[in-house]
Amino acid sequence: MSNDFLESLKAELGADVFVGDDIPVRFHNDWSGMTPVVPLALVRPRTTAQVSATLRLCNQFMVPVTPQGGLTGLAGGGRPIDGGVALSLDRMNAIEEVDPVMATMTVQAGVPLGVAQQAAEQAGLFLGLDLGARDSCVIGGNLSTNAGGNRVIRFGMAREHVLGLEVVLPDGTVVTSLNKMLKNNAGYDLKQLFVGSEGTLGVITRAVLRLQAKPADLASAFCGCPDFPSMLELLKSSRQRMGSALTSFEVMWPSFYDFMTGGLPDLRRALAEAHGIYVLIETGGRDAAENRVLLEQVLSDALEAGWVSDAVLPNSEREARDLWAVRESVSEYGKLMGPMTAFDVGVPTSDAGDLVAEIEAAVSQRWPDAIGLSYGHIGDSNLHFVCNIPSARAQQPNKEITELVFGLVAEKGGTISAEHGIGLLKKPYLKLSRSPEELALMATIKRALDPNNILNTGKVLSL
Ligand code: FAD
Ligand code: LAC
Ligand code: ZN
Repeated sequence: MSNDFLESLKAELGADVFVGDDIPVRFHNDWSGMTPVVPLALVRPRTTAQVSATLRLCNQFMVPVTPQGGLTGLAGGGRPIDGGVALSLDRMNAIEEVDPVMATMTVQAGVPLGVAQQAAEQAGLFLGLDLGARDSCVIGGNLSTNAGGNRVIRFGMAREHVLGLEVVLPDGTVVTSLNKMLKNNAGYDLKQLFVGSEGTLGVITRAVLRLQAKPADLASAFCGCPDFPSMLELLKSSRQRMGSALTSFEVMWPSFYDFMTGGLPDLRRALAEAHGIYVLIETGGRDAAENRVLLEQVLSDALEAGWVSDAVLPNSEREARDLWAVRESVSEYGKLMGPMTAFDVGVPTSDAGDLVAEIEAAVSQRWPDAIGLSYGHIGDSNLHFVCNIPSARAQQPNKEITELVFGLVAEKGGTISAEHGIGLLKKPYLKLSRSPEELALMATIKRALDPNNILNTGKVLSL
């Protein structure tokens, strides 16, 4: 059967099909740290018609197919399925149009996020989606995971940046719905079904993204606060006084900040003294002078109130990049820590301080050699915890620590995934965050769109 399938695939897709040793290693896995898988075949289409042909054949031969973007996902969603096809969108990487009147950009799914950001800026506009993996992840992957990142507090998650989509359904049907209008209530909002569905319902081939006015100025500040409650006061005051000018509010606990600045010689500690917790604030404004004055006022009042113990405001874009370098260094923690278990949980913001204390204490009690780093998009109620347990080297991502952390999160009514999605890694725990009725509805939708269960089979849900 697999020979017939491969022959049919090669007959339709020709040189865009790769098998065996011709499949580059980077297509064997994502960033989840799971065991790599060599797929039966890799397809790298150049057109929507080729995506459609691939899915039609996979559906006909009942071969599972895994859509792949930049493979920076952390949940195993883009990791190939044994005996299945990996369908990479990496060659569909054209920016088709920037429309300055509608403030939209129409892109193919394989456009890297950083390239889309630059194209928006060249047109005098701004793409509000931003994450550390910007140069490697691609728009199709961002939409399929409903990615978050560093500016969610201002612009929302990926689903708020999309106005239209072109999607190929598991049977090969192409649904082109490249709407550009901000308002369109004609029937169901179908695109949102695919956003965040982690490649289980359809393959995104093109998207219309919503652009913003380009801020005339982006100003950053790095603050040391005495403790979590003071940091919350700073967050409240920043939100109230800056409103929509507040574009980022990123928090690092000493576990993260000390480990990263200690381990990476190029990272400079911005503040000489140690503090209870660290915050990176970014503001964007239409008037550079006003933007900076407001940031300075908020910080100077916070210093006076004792919510902030010390703060640095950079004098140039380069100094600002240096301040952000520690937050951006997350792409290096794999190198520093080795195999890890990584979390992207969410709890109501006020509970995040207790949660970190409970997680860090429970983990170091159970595994005295554990290295655990806490940080996150705390302005968006999203906490990251990454952990390496040298004594459990072979078993990471580690089941026991996952259950420990998710148990503490569930006690606070939180979510097991605030931004990276479920993929394969978190599938056994989805029931902690979703009710039986929600899970049943997800299965109904999956069965309706993919009756043969070929699209990213076994990811997110098991049918
Ligand atoms: P992939 O990993 O290739 O795929 C992700 C999922 O989407 C898979 O299930 C895949 O099957 C599916 N998929 C991919 N393309 C398509 C398509 N065209 N159609 C249908 N399904 C598709 N995430 C955040 O949310 N916020 C962050 O701040 C953040 N920071 C990160 C920093 C670093 C250093 C790294 C390595 C990762 C970070 N991530 C973050 C995780 C990751 O970058 C995001 O999940 C990103 O959106 C994945 O995009 P990708 O193109 O790499 O997708
Ligand atoms: C971050 C990723 C890992 O925010 O989501 O660093
Ligand atoms: Zn994140």
